[in-house]
Amino acid sequence: MKKITAAITAVGKYVPEYILTNKELEQLVDTNDEWITTRTGIKERRILKGENKGTSFMAIKAAEEILEKSKINPEEIDLVIVATATPDIMVASTAVYVATAIGATNAFGYDLQAACSSFLYGMSTAASYIESGRYKKVLLIGADKMSSIIDYTDRATCIIFGDGAGAALFEPDTEGFGLQDEYLRSDGAGREFLKIAAGGSLLPASEDTLKNGQHFIHQEGKTVFKHAVSNMADVSEQILTRNNLTEKDVQWLVPHQANKRIIEATANRVGLKSDKVMMNIHRYGNTTSATLPLLLADYENQLKKGDNLIFAAFGGGFTWGSIYLKWAYNS
Ligand code: UT7
Repeated sequence: MKKITAAITAVGKYVPEYILTNKELEQLVDTNDEWITTRTGIKERRILKGENKGTSFMAIKAAEEILEKSKINPEEIDLVIVATATPDIMVASTAVYVATAIGATNAFGYDLQAACSSFLYGMSTAASYIESGRYKKVLLIGADKMSSIIDYTDRATCIIFGDGAGAALFEPDTEGFGLQDEYLRSDGAGREFLKIAAGGSLLPASEDTLKNGQHFIHQEGKTVFKHAVSNMADVSEQILTRNNLTEKDVQWLVPHQANKRIIEATANRVGLKSDKVMMNIHRYGNTTSATLPLLLADYENQLKKGDNLIFAAFGGGFTWGSIYLKWAYNS
């Protein structure tokens, strides 16, 4: 019997209409377009506006795009995973709500939380279910409404993050396409540097936590930056080396979009020129769990069957890693 690999067979995306520009941020905090552009590469990001719209709103739209494009019946989906750091509500998984909303009535669902590495880790999870033969259609969605946890008076975070969602369908393949290898890492020493301090079991919500702004995301940018640069580059290099790949064998680097300088450092380490590096940070900022699938959706037309893609991400926790995937279709 031929080995089963887990291929991505369709991608979809959704970004909200509202565009928050660097110019508008200049009105909110002490910053400027020149600083943001040179230090991060970001020009604008999308913000989900409107009452009663959480992360699921965007996740559903990204999933619906896949259903429309791939023409699959939602009842065929076995599992829906929502990779997110900003679930709609606590306890009840966003993925379960999304599955029901898209008509995936035979699926089960759950959320996967690993900050900016959520989608990358989710790729590993989705692929494992497929490779084992247990399930045939796994829908992995990366979605975050970062604007719901941002303090728009904190220039260290409000300039970076944006809202968005992307999705990928994983299905079995017997021709060798799909996920080839992964190298996933984490280090709990990093949890102090990028976190929401309150609202969890360690420090439940109270009047004080609210007053102290402890429900907003806080990051020590410089520390996170240093770890992101070295670790994303290290794992990408590792995955190339252990798969005997040189830069000539790689068609695309698919890097988490946190900072243009981190992306460039990773690309330089593995010797990839900018025309092989997917980048949309200038348009969306850092959408946390959505960056990788948004890149796939934006670059889908340029991807060819057999292309070698190297994914890399780094996020809070700390969590990070790299995945080598062979693209499975021409669009
Ligand atoms: O996706 C999850 C992982 N997250 C990341 O990977 C993010 C990693 N970190 C970063 O991308 C960068 O650290 C930031 C973009 C957050 C900050 O860039 P930086 O080059 O590390 O700036 P910095 O914090 O070292 O600050 C440099 C200077 C400081 O001024 P002085 O002390 O040199 O006079 C800051 O006060 O820039 C100042 N500054 C700003 N100026 C204008 C900091 N933030 C801003 C701002 N606008 N928004």
